Amino acid sequence: MKTILITGANRGIGLALTKTYLQGGWHVIATCREPQYATELNELMPTFPELQVFALNMINYEQMEELSEKLAPVKLDIVLNNAGVYGPKEYGFGEVDIDEWREVLEVNVIAPMRLAELFYTHLMQGEDKIFAVLSSKLASNTLNTEGGGYIYRCTKAALNSIVKSLSNDLLPEGIRTAALHPGWVKTDMGGPDAPLSTEESATGLKSVLDHFSDAQSGGFYDYQGEAIPW
Ligand SMILES: NC(=O)c1ccc[n+]([C@@H]2O[C@H](COP(=O)([O-])OP(=O)(O)OC[C@H]3O[C@@H](n4cnc5c(N)ncnc54)[C@H](OP(=O)(O)O)[C@@H]3O)[C@@H](O)[C@H]2O)c1
Repeated sequence: MKTILITGANRGIGLALTKTYLQGGWHVIATCREPQYATELNELMPTFPELQVFALNMINYEQMEELSEKLAPVKLDIVLNNAGVYGPKEYGFGEVDIDEWREVLEVNVIAPMRLAELFYTHLMQGEDKIFAVLSSKLASNTLNTEGGGYIYRCTKAALNSIVKSLSNDLLPEGIRTAALHPGWVKTDMGGPDAPLSTEESATGLKSVLDHFSDAQSGGFYDYQGEAIPW
């Protein structure tokens, strides 16, 4: 049985990914900030005994380190950083909030890097050896024709940069990395007008990772496997 660790698994795309991997017969280590309130996630446990839930606030690095130690004997095939924040919406040039920028940067960029460092040894023991993150098409400079979104766009672009460097550093050891755009998905972040359901997105993302090759490592792909320009 293969094992995946998914962050931010209590709602949205993270919850759908958890269900999709469980239905696919995987052992899922699902993390979220407050497991005691993660009702939908906890309700999956009686049906899927191979689901384990742990508390993890991505920016609590002590907690992340403790979890890494607790899971030291576990071989991870995939570490999937889904947790992320958008930050402020509908602000324009001249209205950027520096403190909010720092918070988004911490969650979307620094925390995933720490995750990669702290779960590297678990991945080295796994078979698939994939470190994947949910990025966003909004990170693409090529596709940025509208401007705005300074905070979210730049943090996801920075995350893509990490994915590329990690691939250069770790591919020689067999670890592949992926920056994935889940599509525009109906969640608290994506909003009600988004065309994709969380299930459609999660099914697509799993399929991309199921067929992920060494040659794709360090790249930026959507949930259908199409490469996205940087
Ligand atoms: N929805 C879209 O259309 C879309 C498009 C492109 C990319 N994405 C990316 O896809 C990922 C999931 O998005 P979503 O739409 O499912 O978002 P969402 O519904 O807003 O859920 C975000 C998840 O991230 C978790 N999270 C936030 N900060 C955290 C922290 N400090 N520690 C641990 N968990 C934290 C949340 O936990 P809490 O419940 O505790 O807040 C929640 O589980 C994000 O990285 C997002 O940027 C989404």
